[in-house]
Amino acid sequence: MLTELATITAEPEKLTRLYLTSEHRRAADRVAGWMRDAGLMVREDALATVRGRLEAAGGTRRTLILGSHIDTVIDAGRFDGALGVVAAIVAVDALRRSGVALPFAVEVCAFGDEEGVRFPTTLLGSSAVAGILDPADLDRTDVDGISVRAALAAYGCDVGAVAEARIAEEDAVGYLEVHIEQGPVLEREGLPLGIVTAIAGATRAVVTVTGEAGHAGTVPMGLRRDALAAASELVIAVERIGRAGAGDELVATVGRMTVRPGAVNVVPGAVELSLDVRASSDEPRRAAMVAISPAAAEIAGRRGVGIEIAVTHDRDTAACTPAVVDVLSDAVASFGLPPRRLMSGAGHDGQAMAMLTDIGMIFVRCRGGVSHNPAEYASPGDIGLAVAALVRAVEGFAEKERERR
Ligand code: GLV
Ligand code: MN
Ligand code: MN
Repeated sequence: MLTELATITAEPEKLTRLYLTSEHRRAADRVAGWMRDAGLMVREDALATVRGRLEAAGGTRRTLILGSHIDTVIDAGRFDGALGVVAAIVAVDALRRSGVALPFAVEVCAFGDEEGVRFPTTLLGSSAVAGILDPADLDRTDVDGISVRAALAAYGCDVGAVAEARIAEEDAVGYLEVHIEQGPVLEREGLPLGIVTAIAGATRAVVTVTGEAGHAGTVPMGLRRDALAAASELVIAVERIGRAGAGDELVATVGRMTVRPGAVNVVPGAVELSLDVRASSDEPRRAAMVAISPAAAEIAGRRGVGIEIAVTHDRDTAACTPAVVDVLSDAVASFGLPPRRLMSGAGHDGQAMAMLTDIGMIFVRCRGGVSHNPAEYASPGDIGLAVAALVRAVEGFAEKERERR
C-alpha cells in the first residue's frame, strides 16, 4: 500500500503530493478503496479528509479516531503521513476480522493538509474535525492566487459543510496516530517503537521584503534597494537566532524564497520568504519570533527596504494525554519492548486533535533519522509491530470505555 501510494505524485521520479491537487484526488480515491475493502463506510468531508468508519456493535456515537495525512512535502519520503493512514486501515481491518465487539465506533481519517506546503496554512483537515477551523484560512491563497475555498470547490468538496466535519467533544474517545519518527533517537537506541509525550509547537510566517526593481546595468550599487540582498541578510539573522537557542532545541528555517521579478538583468524588487520556527517548549519559540522582528527592522532601515512579517500559523506545544501515553506504553510493552517515550520535533495532526480529545502517537524507527527526503525509510518489521501495537491500544481503549459505562 505504501509503495502504491508513493507512485501517486505530481512529478515523475519524485514524490510530491500537495493538498487538493489531482494527485491528492487519486491518492484519496485509492485510500477510500482500501477503507471499503477493510469494511469501513467511507465519506469525504468538507476539507477533503477521507473518513472510513467502522460502527460500534451497539450503534453509539462515541468514536475513537485513528489517522494521519496523505499530503507530502516536495520530493518527499514515502512514509511521512502515509504510514499512519495505512497502519490505521490495516489495524481496523484486523480488529473487524477478529470479530471483537468494540464499545465505540472507530473512524480512520486520511487528512489532506498536514504539511502546509501548498497554502500558507496547515492542519486544515484535522482542525475541521476538531471544530477549530478558522474560516479566514479558507481565503488564504497559494502561489498561483487560488484560495483554499476555490481549490476545495474544484476538488469536489462542499465548502458549506465545514460544520458537519466536526466530531462533537462528547462523542470523541481519543485520537491515535502512527508516524515515522523523522529523527534518530529510536535507531540510536536500537528500538523499533516509541511513544510520543508531546508535539513541539510551531510558528510559521510569510515575510515580504519590498525594495525597488531596477536595471542591473545602470543602477549604481550605492543607490540600490535590492530586496534579495536584504532577504539574504535576514536568512542569516534567522539562522543566527536559531543557533543561539540550540539549548532549547530551537530551530529556525527559511525554506522558500520567491524573487520578483526574477530576471538576470533586474535588481530584485521584492522577495517573499517563508519562516518556520520551533522549539521543545513554547517560550524559546516565542522569544525567537520576538528577536527576529528587530533584526528585520535593522536590515530594513539600513538598506531602505520594507520588511513585513505576517504570521500564518502559530500553535503551541501539544502534550499527549498522560492516560493515552500509558495505554500506548502498555501496548508496546506487551511485545516485550521497552516503552521509550520521546518528544516530537515535527508537527502532526494531533496538535489540532488535542483541542478536541485525548491524543497519543506511536513513533516508528526511521533509518538514519532521515525524513522530508526520498531516502526516508521504515522497515516492514517495525511497521508490523506498530500496527500490532495500535491494535492493542484500541483494545486498551475499549477496556477503559467499558469501565466508563
Ligand atoms: C510536518 O511534517 C512538519 O512538521 O512540518
Ligand atoms: Mn507527517
Ligand atoms: Mn512531514
